[in-house]
Amino acid sequence: MFITFEGTEGCGKTSQIPPLAEYLRFMGYPVLATREPGGTEIGDQIRSVLFDRGESAMHQRTEILLFQAARAQHVEEFIRPNLASGKIILCDRFADSTRAYQGYGYQRDLEELEQIIQFATGGLEPDLTILLDLEVEVGLRRREQSGGWNRLDAMQLEFHQRAREGYHKLMRAEPRRWIVVDADRPMDVVQADLRQVILERLPALSGRG
Ligand code: TMP
Repeated sequence: MFITFEGTEGCGKTSQIPPLAEYLRFMGYPVLATREPGGTEIGDQIRSVLFDRGESAMHQRTEILLFQAARAQHVEEFIRPNLASGKIILCDRFADSTRAYQGYGYQRDLEELEQIIQFATGGLEPDLTILLDLEVEVGLRRREQSGGWNRLDAMQLEFHQRAREGYHKLMRAEPRRWIVVDADRPMDVVQADLRQVILERLPALSGRG
């Protein structure tokens, strides 16, 4: 089972995934947590190229390809082998981030982008995607307060708003794959919701526990 987590800046994915993974392991599920861009040594190197604030001259096409290069390595080196051995993977961002940010955010040709995504993933798609949904302004304020500012955070508000609307469009196009969780609530309330929605989607494993 391949579960991805998506959302705009400051939605809390990165804080929510570790306790969620720990809880699912405690319940007896073989869970691994990972993130994009990253999840492999090569992916982490690409991540630093992408988020180095000195790289502000990076062209959008370069950025798109670097995200896909990190993803291709992640899929082949980490995700597919672990799925094949029966693991449940919780992944902090995946291809929907490219669709939302590079596609809707930058207003690029979505069909062209889709071909590049397919090339990078080899057609791998999440079984379930959770959108931690939050007003863009609230998330950016959270990010600013925690000091976790990166190159993409510095883009205008409208870019992030387009990305959020993009997520909503993606969700409407594939409602069975997506679950939306309201991220504008206390962390423990969001965590409880995440545990519940994921456990509900793991019927085949619930007997193991
Ligand atoms: P995060 O580690 O805080 O989630 O930040 C990753 C940043 O990278 C975030 O601004 C979203 C962006 N991103 C893309 O624009 N496209 C992608 O394909 C991925 C994986 C991330």
